[in-house]
Amino acid sequence: MPTADPSGVRWAVLGTGRISESFVPDLQQAEPGSVVSVWGRTADKTAAFAERHGLAHSSAELDEVLARDDVDAVYVATPVATHAPLAIRALEAGKHVLVEKPFAFSTEEGRTVFEAARRNDRFAMEAMWMKFNPLHVELRERVLAGLIGEPRSVRGGFGMPFPAGGSRWSAELGGSTVLDQGIYPITLADWMLGPAQAVTATGSVLDGVDVSAQISLDHGDGRGSQSACSVLEFCDPSAAISGTAGWIEIPAMFWAGDTAELHAGSPEALFRTPDRLVREREGNGYVPMIRAVNGAIAEGLREHPSHDAAATLRIAGTMDEVRSQIHSRGVPARSPR
Ligand SMILES: NC(=O)c1ccc[n+]([C@@H]2O[C@H](COP(=O)([O-])OP(=O)(O)OC[C@H]3O[C@@H](n4cnc5c(N)ncnc54)[C@H](OP(=O)(O)O)[C@@H]3O)[C@@H](O)[C@H]2O)c1
Repeated sequence: MPTADPSGVRWAVLGTGRISESFVPDLQQAEPGSVVSVWGRTADKTAAFAERHGLAHSSAELDEVLARDDVDAVYVATPVATHAPLAIRALEAGKHVLVEKPFAFSTEEGRTVFEAARRNDRFAMEAMWMKFNPLHVELRERVLAGLIGEPRSVRGGFGMPFPAGGSRWSAELGGSTVLDQGIYPITLADWMLGPAQAVTATGSVLDGVDVSAQISLDHGDGRGSQSACSVLEFCDPSAAISGTAGWIEIPAMFWAGDTAELHAGSPEALFRTPDRLVREREGNGYVPMIRAVNGAIAEGLREHPSHDAAATLRIAGTMDEVRSQIHSRGVPARSPR
């Protein structure tokens, strides 16, 4: 049973891939907290990961990691299809969970994870770090304060030709550009405009994996968002939030940005020299989210109000519908291999 350790939340990491390499230093930087253990499928590789990051323990046996009394919480950083089963195992073992985006492969699967969290009285959250990034948090506050008048539309893209191979291209492992890249502009739109009420999407599919998508969401009252994502081609990886009194541009890579241009206020700022808002990233960008999660767990919260189960499942529902439309009427894509 995890306890509120005075030295903070004690983490175990599941998966030793690229994202774990950049996430673990941030877990170690986000005081108070520590990383004590890592699980991976092969003992040698996992031991080498532990050594690189100065972790006391590693194992290729998941049960061994989950049975440890000095592990309070687990960070799940494996392919999408494994998120829900791994998170549920960790929750049933009494650990809190922070699960990489997307939280699960579908709304239905995501719901089973939050149910397991409730059953076991543990914290669960999708690692949607953009919603904790200082730049984006301040932009949201300024939008709410009326900087651009009434927000009316959002546009965002995340597309680039990714190298072929790996889980991103595997239907079996949950590959999906909508779930992997599209989740960022869709989440930005939900955050700035509120829930999507209707979805129109087109795109392309390769070996059962959606590999490109053009997404139009109706947020009600004539407000809308346009999102594009792809693992085949570039989709301008910037974003903009526009309203009745101005607009905000977040240049590439918008989901990880530290700078925005505020086109609002004077005619000069609107059209010629927008104000620049700069908010430095901490570590690799994950520190503010991890600090918030450590704090929420220490307080005994079971969700984080900045990105709770309702938001995660609502966005998952939108992505379910986007994917359903693309898989039923999208075009076959040409293989980049
Ligand atoms: N927040 C961000 O900035 C960010 C960036 C990139 C990716 N992500 C997310 O992070 C997650 C992982 O992405 P990734 O690109 O790192 O994936 P990946 O490289 O395909 O997989 C990550 C690790 O999962 C383990 N793994 C692979 N196949 C597995 C299987 N069948 N069962 C259990 N474990 C398996 C492997 O570690 P072992 O060899 O140790 O088992 C692998 O190194 C995804 O959900 C992705 O969307 C987030």
